[in-house]
Amino acid sequence: MDRRQAEQRIAELSRELERHNHLYYVLAAPVITDQEFDRMLKELEDLEKAFPEFASPNSPTQRVGGDITKGFPTVPHRYPMLSLGNTYSREEVEEFVARVEKAIGPTRYSMELKYDGVAISLTYKDGELVRGVTRGDGEKGEDITANVRTIRSIPLRLQGEGWPKDFEARGEVIFTKKQFEKLNAQREKEGEELYANPRNTAAGTLKQQDPKEVAKRGLDSFMYSLQGEGLPTRSHFENLEHAHAWGFKTPDPKKRYIDRATDAAGIMAFIDHWGQHRNELEMIIDGVVVKVDDLDVQDELGLTAKSPRWAMAYKYAPEQAVTKLLGVTFQVGRTGAVTPVAELDPVQLAGTTVKRASLFNADQLDRLDLHQGDMVRVEKAGEIIPQVVGVEIAKREPGAQRVSFLHDCPECGTPLIRLEGEAQHYCPNEHGCPPQITRRIEHFVSRRAMDIDGLGAETVQEFHAAQLIGDVADLYDLSVDRILALGKGWKEKSAEKVISGLEKSKQVPFDRVLFALGIRHVGETVAKKIARGAMSMERLMSMTKEELVGIEEVGEVIAESIIDFFAVPGNQRIVERLRQQGLRMEMEASEGPASDKLKGLSIVVSGVFRTFSRDGIKEAIERNGGKVSGSISSKTSYVVAGEGMGPAKRAKAEELKVPVIDEDELTRMIEG
Ligand code: IVH
Repeated sequence: MDRRQAEQRIAELSRELERHNHLYYVLAAPVITDQEFDRMLKELEDLEKAFPEFASPNSPTQRVGGDITKGFPTVPHRYPMLSLGNTYSREEVEEFVARVEKAIGPTRYSMELKYDGVAISLTYKDGELVRGVTRGDGEKGEDITANVRTIRSIPLRLQGEGWPKDFEARGEVIFTKKQFEKLNAQREKEGEELYANPRNTAAGTLKQQDPKEVAKRGLDSFMYSLQGEGLPTRSHFENLEHAHAWGFKTPDPKKRYIDRATDAAGIMAFIDHWGQHRNELEMIIDGVVVKVDDLDVQDELGLTAKSPRWAMAYKYAPEQAVTKLLGVTFQVGRTGAVTPVAELDPVQLAGTTVKRASLFNADQLDRLDLHQGDMVRVEKAGEIIPQVVGVEIAKREPGAQRVSFLHDCPECGTPLIRLEGEAQHYCPNEHGCPPQITRRIEHFVSRRAMDIDGLGAETVQEFHAAQLIGDVADLYDLSVDRILALGKGWKEKSAEKVISGLEKSKQVPFDRVLFALGIRHVGETVAKKIARGAMSMERLMSMTKEELVGIEEVGEVIAESIIDFFAVPGNQRIVERLRQQGLRMEMEASEGPASDKLKGLSIVVSGVFRTFSRDGIKEAIERNGGKVSGSISSKTSYVVAGEGMGPAKRAKAEELKVPVIDEDELTRMIEG
């Protein structure tokens, strides 16, 4: 294929892929299969690799996330991003309408949903997305364009016609309820703390430095206004319809996500409708926004200090239910964290039946001052996770016992500890507290970790109760005979299945072994990054906090957690036994990082290395674009010196002024 053909094909594939992306993510009406989509995307990727001069930052290939961003520059908004006054009552809606009418006479209003997410401003020039900026303080925000490009319902190139040459689309970035629940279900599996609510999670996600991570989380969007010269009409409502035709996800009038009215009664009918049906929506809303529809009338009404006179927000009070507290239980997690849970008389709330609600920690318990049998008020945080928000004190039975936090672990009786600066209590009896032990082993054998066939939670508990296993390394000392000796319905075949599952798990790659250990804060994704950053268990165990923080996505909390984990002699012993039992404790060279960080460098290696085999170090250099050469010359860029490098070589390097580095320095060059 020549350049001209490639350019044409790239343009054609990009257009088609964006069209299918739009059909899928904006209209929810795909016309091709995922496989067909992936095939086209692969073709485009290959072409862009072969002809990088035709790769655009708005190519559909960028949807999966581009390079890491270091910090987000602050940029001014061309038009300030205003906020709205909130109201909670019918009277205030009537007052708003009266104020508007007094100023400019009868007019038409647009009512739409108030999405509970994060405001975003998107600038389009010549139909291409050029910038995505957060609201910030309203005057200036942060440029998060690379992350915005990964949001599938935001068009990178506009369709149709009639868009102004240079304009802004504004809207809200959100997680749908379904996607948020999916994210949390995954975190629960990984033993990670759950996200508290979709809005904060969306805000946190948009500030991630790795756009690939943003792409994986599955953010969505709704656009609610256009700003700029030369908009198609002078009606806000109709402009949004145009925006829809250009490819934006906008509120659908057919679903009544947006509607118009000419008086307070019409506005209230919309508000009441969604007040009753908001649980049925795919996303969370916290109210309704009412806007004067005519842009010229908007201009005439103008602004007060902070918010426009032509718009207002009606906020729904969060739905609450009152129910009886049946008791408080305390759960011990795999990391030893003890969480109080309110057991409730089942009650309907915002579309689901609520039976339990997390009470988070001792502070929260104190704040609520719960007593046995209290009637408690329950709300959903971000409308998803049930939370006890208060007590009906007047209904408290006289003499009811106050619920207090525990001093000792409910499972093993060990006195609980509370780390400085943390709200959680922990049971420190890591190796003796039954639920901690079994949950750690359950995590270890789970599908995303070691994926051991034939071993589920129940079997783990059975083996533990029978004292066959006390830690994860004991699993590999099991034998068919020892399992059969349990009796209880064990058959040769099922016992063999367990043993062969364990045997097979010895091939599981290092990053999953690391994840399987269940180090606090080390989830699946972070484990991958750490495995690539450290390359081996041995190196990881000797890394300092500074070195750990140098790994992508590893902050102080994770670094400290890793250091604490390996500081425990019991953990060191387990890792050592797992190594002897044949589990993989290093990355294969082919799993290591691939980059062009060493491009153009000619590197000589000499001696024996701590963290690399002889071939491994060569492969690592080559995979990162460097060239390995056998002898030192004036063209050599670096000599990597291992133990036992001869003095003659060192002298030669000095003579030719070739820098001599050690293997850690090389690793830093590759990772840095
Ligand atoms: S209009 C001047 N419409 O609510 C008008 N805002 O204080 C500016 N929001 O942070 C906003 N849904 O991000 C508008 N349909 C909607 C909205 C909406 C949610 C957010 C917005 C802003 C806050 C308003």
